[in-house]
Amino acid sequence: MIIAVDGPAASGKGTIAKALAAYFDLPMLDTGLLYRAVGLNLLRSGQDPADEAAAVTACSFADDIMADPAIRSEAVGQAASQASAHPAVRAALLKRQRDFAKQAGGAVLDGRDIGTVIAPDADAKLFVTASPEARANRRAKEEGGVSFDAILADIRARDERDSGRGAAPLRQAEDADLLDTTDLTIDAAVQRAIALVEARIRR
Ligand code: DC
Repeated sequence: MIIAVDGPAASGKGTIAKALAAYFDLPMLDTGLLYRAVGLNLLRSGQDPADEAAAVTACSFADDIMADPAIRSEAVGQAASQASAHPAVRAALLKRQRDFAKQAGGAVLDGRDIGTVIAPDADAKLFVTASPEARANRRAKEEGGVSFDAILADIRARDERDSGRGAAPLRQAEDADLLDTTDLTIDAAVQRAIALVEARIRR
């Protein structure tokens, strides 16, 4: 069984994907980490994520970079978002994601284009979203000391770039279930996600 979980930054999709993987006993891939590895690689070598050739070279990263705590920062998220707009970067990371999705027994993948591009035949697809304000609030709580307005502006910039790009833009697949977590606790969102997936696989 393949479960695709897509959605914008800080929507709760990562937490939901992890909970689904635990509940259905499936391996999970946070595909954002692959793009973040490219972003961190670029920033560390002083290169511009807008430079397509540099971004493609940065796709040859050592896997241990994905465990570096710096990869979680919003600066790396923005660099990842910029680098991910290059079609050649998406192509370089495609096989790894498809292979993970197609492994025997199934998998959960979370990202922006899992239901639309990486695993269009997924058994269940969730599009997890929340208002920009709710997402900024969550980030502000996680990253104490950063202003709410700055976080909200970053989230809006990333939404616009991820949804507006030509290559595999962030969008809800036609056959995905929408899960708006704006007014839900984490537990309620996870319970709703499990119910949506179970309803899909029973069909
Ligand atoms: O989910 P995240 O915040 O870790 O993702 C970082 C950036 O990587 C995101 O802004 C856009 C890009 N990304 C993508 O283009 N496609 C994916 N499947 C996952 C992430």
